[in-house]
Amino acid sequence: MNDSKNGKVFLVGAGPGDPELLTIKANRLISECDALLYDSLIPQELLELVSPSCELYFVGKKRGHHSVSQNKINSSLVKIAQRYQCVVRLKGGDPFLFGRGAEEAQYLVDKGIAVEVVPGITAGIAVPAYMGIPVTHRLAGSSVTFVTGHEGIDKRRPTVKWRLLAKASDGIVIYMGLHNLKYIVEELIAGGLDPITPTVVIQQGTVIGQRYLKSTLNQISNETKKLKYHSPSIVMIGAAINYQVGACSPLPAQVTMPIIF
Ligand SMILES: C[S@@+](CC[C@H](N)C(=O)[O-])C[C@H]1O[C@@H](n2cnc3c(N)ncnc32)[C@H](O)[C@@H]1O
Repeated sequence: MNDSKNGKVFLVGAGPGDPELLTIKANRLISECDALLYDSLIPQELLELVSPSCELYFVGKKRGHHSVSQNKINSSLVKIAQRYQCVVRLKGGDPFLFGRGAEEAQYLVDKGIAVEVVPGITAGIAVPAYMGIPVTHRLAGSSVTFVTGHEGIDKRRPTVKWRLLAKASDGIVIYMGLHNLKYIVEELIAGGLDPITPTVVIQQGTVIGQRYLKSTLNQISNETKKLKYHSPSIVMIGAAINYQVGACSPLPAQVTMPIIF
């Protein structure tokens, strides 16, 4: 049910950072919208696409402490949709992958606000791809798992069964995994994953500041700590890393992304 007096909220995926990875639809909506709410991982350069009259709202969160609570974001979305016709809720990567997009969409639908989802390019695929690393390869298995390494803060989320995952998936791509990396690695090895499985950590992928470390599962935690890797980073584990092609994508000029500690 939609109350026609209300505006419509577009839940838009911004991609992993490089503005050229925006979809054409996302680009159009960002430049046309009357109001836009955005998260911490949205580069400033994307916000420059909005029209001068667009109202911008930062609703970003930081690890461990929510700068704006999810309840507040939900109720702000409703209030803003009651005032503006075209509202963009811009989220990093894809809005339905580890982004609470479905929770926000359901809340709006329950309040009678029309919602449309605009998928985005997820960091877990694009960030390795910018380093020439495929997340699957025919010669390196037939499966890949996207998993969050962020546990313990939101107790409502079920615990990841890392030991079972060790044997169940040929490739593993971990979002928000840096903070718990030591524990994750120990669990994967205890679950039977070869300690010398190729592993890569890529920080701030597709934007200025991008850096990466290729190592083995048993070394990666110490090495990333020593080199002070930080969020946002993608961790990828699996033999597909061996098929990295000698072609890295060029980074956009002057697009940076906030660092989150
Ligand atoms: C809350 S999740 C959101 C994921 C997003 N919905 C997506 O589809 O990419 C945020 C995490 O995505 C990963 N991430 C997002 N953008 C990234 C980037 N440019 N470089 C490396 N990791 C990134 C990091 O693991 C970060 O902590």
